[in-house]
Amino acid sequence: MKSFRAAVITLSDSGFAGKRVDESGPLVRDLLVRAGYTVVLYKLLPDEQAELSACLQALCDHAQADLVLTTGGTGFSPRDTTPEATLDIAERVVPGISEVMRAYSLQKTDRAMLSRSVAVIRKQTLIINLPGSPRAAQENLECILPALEHGLAILSGAICHGGV
Ligand code: MTE
Repeated sequence: MKSFRAAVITLSDSGFAGKRVDESGPLVRDLLVRAGYTVVLYKLLPDEQAELSACLQALCDHAQADLVLTTGGTGFSPRDTTPEATLDIAERVVPGISEVMRAYSLQKTDRAMLSRSVAVIRKQTLIINLPGSPRAAQENLECILPALEHGLAILSGAICHGGV
C-alpha cells in the first residue's frame, strides 16, 4: 500500500506537566508503524481546546498528515475537550468510525459508552479521537485499523469511488 502519513497527539495535562509518562501516544505510534504508516509527528499537549484545534487545523490545512489520531480527553472530566476541539475544525463528520469503536469496546467494558470520541474529515485529513488509557487506545484502534486504508485512499484521491 501507499504509506499514509500519520500524526499522533496525546492530550494530557499531567503528561504535559511532566507528572506522568505518556504510554498511550508511543503505543499508538508503534501500532501505526507496524500497520505500515509513516508517523510524521508525535506531540503531547495539555487538555486545552483552543490549542488542540489550532494544531489540528494546521496539520490539515498544510496537508502534513493523512491521518491524525488523538488519545485522551474524551471522557466526562471538565478538562476533557478533545471531541469539542475536533468538531470545532471539522468539515465532515464520520459517525461510523466512532460507532464501531464504542460497539467493539462495549464487548470489553460497559464503560466504553463514556468515551465521547468523534471522527471527522477536514480537507484531505481524517482525524480520529481515541480514549486515553493505553489499553483503551489499543482496543479502539485495533477494530478500525483494517478499514482505514480504503477510506484514506479515497480521501487522498488515490482511488476514485462512485463513478460508473
Ligand atoms: N474503551 C475500551 N476499549 N477500553 C477501555 O478500557 N475505557 C473507557 C472508555 N473507552 C475504555 C474504553 C473509559 S473508563 C472512559 S472514562 C472513556 O473511554 C474516556 O477515556 P478518556 O477520558 O481517557 O479519553
